Amino acid sequence: MKIIMLGAPGAGKGTQAKLISEEYGIPHISTGDIFRANLKEGTELGQKAKVYMDQGLLVPDDLTCDLVVDRIAQDDCENGFILDGFPRTIPQADCLTDALGKLGESMDFAIDVNVPDENIIKRMSGRRACLNCGATYHIVDIPPKVEGVCDICGGKLVLRDDDKPETVKKRLDVYHEQTQPLIDYYTKQGILHTVDGTLPMEEVFAQIKEILNA
Ligand code: AP5
Ligand code: MG
Ligand code: ZN
Repeated sequence: MKIIMLGAPGAGKGTQAKLISEEYGIPHISTGDIFRANLKEGTELGQKAKVYMDQGLLVPDDLTCDLVVDRIAQDDCENGFILDGFPRTIPQADCLTDALGKLGESMDFAIDVNVPDENIIKRMSGRRACLNCGATYHIVDIPPKVEGVCDICGGKLVLRDDDKPETVKKRLDVYHEQTQPLIDYYTKQGILHTVDGTLPMEEVFAQIKEILNA
């Protein structure tokens, strides 16, 4: 099962991808998490990506495409994978279509987690992310069992650098301009499904399971 999670920043792509990964036993691949891990490790890629991420801009396609193509060629992706935050531009989508096409494969599902902009700004300020495993929480809606500590791995929970309200607004603009066209792209491929991302996390997940199990 090869799945793409589409949706605005903060729509809940990562939250749902994590649940799908656990339920179906396929890896969760988040380009944002990969960039943040690189930054934490002080790699050149991490330093390059940070410049764009901090401004709410997209990291250039040439830094992103090869990374994902290499990642999905690894053994643990044999039975499928979930892409969270990739593709985000038409050239990235073309790169993915081509890479899979060479293997005689294609994506199975593109799931658009739909949340209006108004809800997003509110969500982001309450988000806390685990520095260690990437799990996300919300201080009101989806709190961890112990404040500031990840339920899954015990890692430290932090507010992401790009979750400041000004940066969130920029990320939303970039989303509408560069990423939203992918909804048409995957509608044309016949694999687009939309879920209502304003519902509670469990209900969104139930909608996704219905799509994946149909
Ligand atoms: P990335 O890390 O992918 O960020 P994003 O797309 O902006 O999305 P988020 O991770 O912020 O949100 P999400 O949809 O995963 O929501 P979450 O589940 O956390 O990318 C960051 C940056 O990296 C980009 O800006 C760009 O610079 C760069 N980048 C990454 N990929 C790239 C690419 N392919 N090309 C170029 N650049 C790239 O949920 C949000 C909050 O809401 C949480 O607090 C959560 O607990 C809460 N929540 C979730 N679901 C619900 C619910 N149903 N009800 C109530 N609250 C909920
Ligand atoms: Mg995310
Ligand atoms: Zn964790």
